[in-house]
Amino acid sequence: IFAAPSMTGAEKSHPDTGINSVQSYQLSKNPHFTLVVKESPDGNKYPELVLEKSLDREKQNSHHLILTAVDGGDPVRSGTAHIRVNVTDANDNPPVFTEEIYKVSVRENLLRGSLVLQVKATDQDEGVYAQITYSFSNVPDNARTLFYLDPEKGRITNTRILDFEDTHKYMLGVEARDGGGQSAHSKVQITILDENDNAPEVTFTSVNSPVAEDSVPGTVIALIKVRDQDTGENGEVTCHIQHKLPFKIAVSSNILGISPIFMIFK
Ligand SMILES: *[C@@H]1O[C@H](CO)[C@@H](O)[C@H](O)[C@H]1NC(C)=O
Repeated sequence: IFAAPSMTGAEKSHPDTGINSVQSYQLSKNPHFTLVVKESPDGNKYPELVLEKSLDREKQNSHHLILTAVDGGDPVRSGTAHIRVNVTDANDNPPVFTEEIYKVSVRENLLRGSLVLQVKATDQDEGVYAQITYSFSNVPDNARTLFYLDPEKGRITNTRILDFEDTHKYMLGVEARDGGGQSAHSKVQITILDENDNAPEVTFTSVNSPVAEDSVPGTVIALIKVRDQDTGENGEVTCHIQHKLPFKIAVSSNILGISPIFMIFK
């Protein structure tokens, strides 16, 4: 609190004595300050400005008061002083994130160093008490070397290629800390979207070869398993035999529900 009084008028210094000296002081009406009038041993009255109700710089950062001194003469004379009280900042506000949880979906194979998401926190204080530094607070091991959080800007970028087949979803804890040590926490949920980046893998589970020339049509020659690591449409596969050959291919019922088994018939 800084008070800068400046007396105005003839009563700045009051040489009168007795009834003509200062009799009372008044303070303009305000919700925070009161006046306590004290008396020094030589009988002089002097006012003290006392804080009655706590101040909040974020609501009002300065207060203007008028102090009036009145004497007991006839005519009554008075003098005024303007008091300006500037309220300095205390770190009484923690940072606040704009979201409780940030959610974003990004395609796998996103280029390294791409912006995934930007988090933001605000702080009602000023100066260093409003200077926010971002950091990860709670990050699973598999994400530790995958994402980078810019401490000043809150930008999250990927430091490596994301792989849907490795992990579909990451949950990262982020912290915002102001220059006075107050902090806030939020979460970032990153969903990785599948891209068709895996080719089907074909494996023979059994082959009856060679095939006797007198095999009857409909004899099973081979069982084939086809697997595609992608999801949804990207993971659906069809099989067919190239060129005109005396074989046909058919899908067997997908009994185990894992991957379809194709059978080759003569
Ligand atoms: C009080 O605040 C005002 C307005 O911000 C500024 O002009 C003035 O210099 C300040 N006084 C002190 C003593 O800080």
